[in-house]
Amino acid sequence: MAQRQPLMAGNWKMNLDHIEATGLVQKLAWSLADLRHDPARCETAVLVPFTDLRTVQLLIEGERYPIRWGAQDVSVHQVGAYTGEVSAPMLAKLNCAYVVVGHSERREYHGETDQLVNAKAKQALGHGIQPIICVGEKLAVRQSGDQVAFVLGQVDGVLAGLQPDEAANVILAYEPVWAIGTGQVATPADAQEVCGAIRSRVAELFSAQLAQSLRILYGGSAKASNIVDLMAQPDVDGALVGGASLQAEEFARMVAFQTLA
Ligand code: 13P
Repeated sequence: MAQRQPLMAGNWKMNLDHIEATGLVQKLAWSLADLRHDPARCETAVLVPFTDLRTVQLLIEGERYPIRWGAQDVSVHQVGAYTGEVSAPMLAKLNCAYVVVGHSERREYHGETDQLVNAKAKQALGHGIQPIICVGEKLAVRQSGDQVAFVLGQVDGVLAGLQPDEAANVILAYEPVWAIGTGQVATPADAQEVCGAIRSRVAELFSAQLAQSLRILYGGSAKASNIVDLMAQPDVDGALVGGASLQAEEFARMVAFQTLA
């Protein structure tokens, strides 16, 4: 079976200016060093506001920290008269490894559809950036027990038209909306149910081999105290972490989850 390197990705959302970003990234690097973290065992990434990207890039490259970085959104357009947008080529120039697309907050507050998310993912892939594509059901869907069917519908939409070589560079993040920022983490079994179903669907859409190497993250109130049980699930390959990623020591402990068990 393909070995999937775990990934802990901190989604800072709209927190921390570029000065504060410097402090947090430094503290994170020191905390990882204190824990003697071996980057081969789990990758670390920070997904920061656009205004922090250049600072974070120069700091990490200059200090050779074992941390990758990325943005939280990308335009569907490549260049032109699109006021306020940031393009994939611009992010690629900043050596972004990742970009979040289709976060539930963007779906909710900016009306983003699976079709738009799909177009954004294609832009990122076309410029060598791995999209972290978010899917996840709201509370009403969970309460009706339709979470698997709902999320698989999103997966079909966000992956539509991708070539296998593109799909191989995608990361999917299952973020149940009712668990985001609420302190109400999904149970490990809830996370596994949906992440496992996503992997099976990717196998149907592409191939079993591709599905086995694809990383699937869980997101929603993940923190150091629940990460070990989540990571014990066979189809959970990491976490997309909001609040807890703003605390350097807490996030470093999540990255080093193998030592917490
Ligand atoms: P919290 O970890 O704060 O619940 O946020 C999850 C999230 O939305 C990450 O993208």
